[in-house]
Amino acid sequence: MNDTPPEQIADALLAWFDRHGRRDLPWQHPRTAYRVWIAEIMLQQTQVTTVVDYFNRFMVRFPDVETLAEAVSDDVMRHWAGLGYYARARNLHAAAQRIVEAHAGELPGDVETLISLPGVGRSTAGAIVAQAFGRWAPILDGNAKRVIARLAAVTATPGTAAYEKPLWQLAERYTPQERVTDYTQAIMDLGATVCTRGRPHCERCPLADRCLAKQAAIQNQLPTRRQRKRREQRETTVLLIEDAQGRILLEKRPPAGIWGGLWSLPEVAADADVEALCTQRYGIRADAGLLLTPLSHTFTHFELTIHPRRMQHRDTVRIMDANHRWFTRDDRPGIPAPIARLLNTPQQSLAL
Ligand code: ADE
Repeated sequence: MNDTPPEQIADALLAWFDRHGRRDLPWQHPRTAYRVWIAEIMLQQTQVTTVVDYFNRFMVRFPDVETLAEAVSDDVMRHWAGLGYYARARNLHAAAQRIVEAHAGELPGDVETLISLPGVGRSTAGAIVAQAFGRWAPILDGNAKRVIARLAAVTATPGTAAYEKPLWQLAERYTPQERVTDYTQAIMDLGATVCTRGRPHCERCPLADRCLAKQAAIQNQLPTRRQRKRREQRETTVLLIEDAQGRILLEKRPPAGIWGGLWSLPEVAADADVEALCTQRYGIRADAGLLLTPLSHTFTHFELTIHPRRMQHRDTVRIMDANHRWFTRDDRPGIPAPIARLLNTPQQSLAL
């Protein structure tokens, strides 16, 4: 147990924040509940530097919760394309509709109601309460967790109750009554820029003198690493079909699963009879062409190798269903980043 009085921790962090913290992030100006909510969802799995541009574009298209609630899903997904973890965008859209219908278009200002919205967990709810409403609430995102785990030398394995429970208790203990907005930003910023994973920059840390992990010289080993299973390897084939006008055939993916709700190249089993399948599934006749250079993409739980196969389009047999459409390169819906890269790079064929 770290017996430094919690006020000293907060004071030291706030003094550091005044000199080094991030005070020019777009969602801080103006700091409305809607903007903070969108930013916090984007920041759940993505770094600040990546989020900024996405956030700004999102705000131009969806400046308020009503606009977001009324938008069609394709439009929301298009503004998320490339950020990954697409369940976030689907939840955000559903939550906007709930906020309009059940909360008269106002974001709730308490943790309990916020948690009931799709996609909002305890830490995100805390960040919204503290940052948008200026009310007391602890936060514990990945960065804050690392800071506190080191400060109090919590050696339990991340993901277990023996780790999460004391960290939440400590997060509550350290969160001050005053300047809670700055304090929550400060602890996240310290984790992102000083108390980093791997080798932390203790020489720049305002809490170094009070850090139990540093005193025991175990700061590089904390948080303890989770036992990681080797990622499962998966393979898939996607079809690159271009019609006579240079349009590409895209398929809308089902809402659940990877890239749910995004448009992508049609995906088929590795051993599929691709010519028969094109006729049956898409209503087009196409001849199997070359296999292109495979690409891999790492997901949280598996690694996917994608084998793109070029098809020579001949003609259209029947009208396609709503989940298959031709798109020109300039009028593309939201597509996953690796597929966008594939479409944007000159194709190298494998000699197969
Ligand atoms: N991670 C989650 N929320 C954040 C925020 N508001 N600032 C920086 N990193 C964050």
